[in-house]
Amino acid sequence: MAILFDEKHSAITIETANSTYQIGIGKYGFLLHLYYGKKVSGDMGYLINYRTRAYSLNPFDSGTDRTFALDNLPFEYPCYGSGDFRPAAFNMKTNAGVYGCDLRYVSHRVVPGKYAIPGLPAVYVDESKAVPLENKISMKNEPLESSAKTSVCKSETLEIVLADPVAGVEVTLLYGVIESLDVITRATIVRNTAASDIVITKALSGCLDFTHGDFDLLHFPGKQGMEHIQKRAPIIQGKQSFGSLRGASSHQHNPFVILADSSASEDTGSCYGMMLLYSGNFICEADRDQYCKTRISMGIQDEMFEYTLKPGEAFHTPEVAYAYSHSGLAHLSHTYHKLVSHHIVRGPYRDIMRPILVNSWEAAYFDFDGEKLIAIAQNAAKLGVEMLVLDDGWFGNRRADASGGLGDWYVNEEKLGMPLSAMVDEINGLGMKFGIWIEPEMVSTDSGLYHAHPDWAFAVPGRGPAWGRNQLVLDFSRKEVVDNIFNQIAAVMDSANIEYIKMDMNRSLADIYSHGETYQNAGATMHKFVLGVYDFLERMNTRYPHVLIEGCCGGGGRFDAGMLYYTPQIWCSDNTDAISRLKIHHGTSFGYPASAMGAHVTTVPNHQTGRSNICINTRGAVAMSGTFGYELDLGKLTADEQQAVKQQVADYKKYWHLIHQGQYYRLTDPNKNSAFAAWAYVSEDKSEALMNVVNLEAQCNPQTYYIALKGLDPDAMYNISVPGADDSNQDKMPTHETTQVSNIYSGSALMYGGLPVPTFRDEHQLWQVHIKTAGIAAQ
Ligand code: GLA
Repeated sequence: MAILFDEKHSAITIETANSTYQIGIGKYGFLLHLYYGKKVSGDMGYLINYRTRAYSLNPFDSGTDRTFALDNLPFEYPCYGSGDFRPAAFNMKTNAGVYGCDLRYVSHRVVPGKYAIPGLPAVYVDESKAVPLENKISMKNEPLESSAKTSVCKSETLEIVLADPVAGVEVTLLYGVIESLDVITRATIVRNTAASDIVITKALSGCLDFTHGDFDLLHFPGKQGMEHIQKRAPIIQGKQSFGSLRGASSHQHNPFVILADSSASEDTGSCYGMMLLYSGNFICEADRDQYCKTRISMGIQDEMFEYTLKPGEAFHTPEVAYAYSHSGLAHLSHTYHKLVSHHIVRGPYRDIMRPILVNSWEAAYFDFDGEKLIAIAQNAAKLGVEMLVLDDGWFGNRRADASGGLGDWYVNEEKLGMPLSAMVDEINGLGMKFGIWIEPEMVSTDSGLYHAHPDWAFAVPGRGPAWGRNQLVLDFSRKEVVDNIFNQIAAVMDSANIEYIKMDMNRSLADIYSHGETYQNAGATMHKFVLGVYDFLERMNTRYPHVLIEGCCGGGGRFDAGMLYYTPQIWCSDNTDAISRLKIHHGTSFGYPASAMGAHVTTVPNHQTGRSNICINTRGAVAMSGTFGYELDLGKLTADEQQAVKQQVADYKKYWHLIHQGQYYRLTDPNKNSAFAAWAYVSEDKSEALMNVVNLEAQCNPQTYYIALKGLDPDAMYNISVPGADDSNQDKMPTHETTQVSNIYSGSALMYGGLPVPTFRDEHQLWQVHIKTAGIAAQ
């Protein structure tokens, strides 16, 4: 049993394999957070220090007892308005003039299985056992062929009902527990129990309120072309808040954070993750209060948000997934990688190798026709590439300068010079799949759709809307808009054998005014836009269950767990420079697995940074740390480079089980270590690993660097070899100048002694090491 009720102490305990989460039903019905961390037994209520606090407020019910100080106690779902002045998770108003509320415990129950959320992504465990919650959305996860693995974990849902009868609100806190994975999810349902409308002004998904502790906050800010750069800083007194107001989760901040004990490292210490399954405006608030207690919460951004509920109506927040690790950040990342790979990503591509693709964008941009695309496919097919993706420019009157055509999803056959189906047939004839780019939420003013429905684009009446990449945003909060775009795109999908979609979103939202929304509910539009996007994606997944969808938002501007529920992979960044990608992949890896990160080999000089000196091997190894593909005309490579591509295709298939199913270890921090970057994948049974090291700095007479492996069996003996190192390309490999380096080591030697890094001959050179148990016992 993962959820236990201790009647004597009025405490509810959630137990996972290695963690305990305890909630207290406190005096006067306040729901207190007692403990979250390494597994403990017993009632943790003793941690709460009830004392008189000057300038604190006490509940009316407490009379003359001043020890229940409302701004000194840790709450499960703090609300504003009744005496807790720290950042609230919930706030509301009524049209009778009440601002704020006072939520108290009503009841709780435990139900088997993991809840689902209508219209929103949610962690799933065993689909057939999902708890039906109102209009439960369908949980499609059709296994494909024999390679699909269904992970059967034990799961339960805890529902706690809180209410404020005066404000007319009932709040149900949902906790989903995946015991074996040390994951606890949270979501909230708000119901109007009043006789008139209430307005939610803030409804976060979850809050963690610690009684004590010194924490660092790890988060992943960035910008377009340099997303998810890991930052770590102590939580200081006061509120630290970040999030997005752009309508998408954004390039600037990612809805995933880690709260780490200030002494925690990659391999040691307590850390807590919070991953929001939401792709729109979000907020994360961390607060260290006057008594040095930390509160952190996450959910839909409250700025630009107001949600009116009519009597009897309910609002569902998105879900946040917590995970706990007592042994550092690497373990926490492994938990999230498993969660995303097996309990968030759905569909047939969840467990199988994704096709190695070549994308037309950096190969041709808008300068293509059918013949040119077929030639790109032919060149790629010869080297083993498995799919051609036709990027932007194939539809409507889309012109070479990225303006026009958005909203008109019909094939521009004049440009292609042939019907799409004829071109796809030819590509299929090469043994390749075919995929296509779409940007469904956008509209160009120079399009048939805009001329027919100008009110479908967000714009405040009487004011010209802000441009972004010469385009406007369609009001996906309106069903008729989603219907129209879906039907147009479905017609294209039905016209040819399309097996992959890249779904882009190339600007942020502004000028929010919906002709489909009443004045009273204007503050719901941004959220309803996200629901519209999810509806579109769910319909695509349902109608085309075997099509692989890759998310994209000018690169990683909507790289979040919400999107991953519908799109198993997301283009990580428009910056394809392999050296920049080291930092991008490093940051992304804290929460997301390699199988989620879209990454391609592109040409040099790189189109985004202009960097030239990155050899094809390094570009290959970095792209292989993601979903792997190419974005260049492979026919333009030298014979040597083409040989290298063939080798990469073979290596990717050979090592896929390590890269996408093994455990990922960050061996260096590329933000700090300027000499080299290193990372490794280790199989779960510790029998095999693949380590990548990239030289970052050309140095004269360098010191000898050492690199320590992680995750191996200390007692096993391992063989090490350098993939692709044969006599023909020895000059391209870094070398150890002496013969001291052998081929067989114990796991303990590799992890605690480390390996000397060989001398690199070139900047950005790659040293790749394959490590496999040697089948002999350690001495
Ligand atoms: C965005 C994407 C690119 C490419 C272009 C096409 O910028 O991130 O990969 O698809 O749009 O316009």
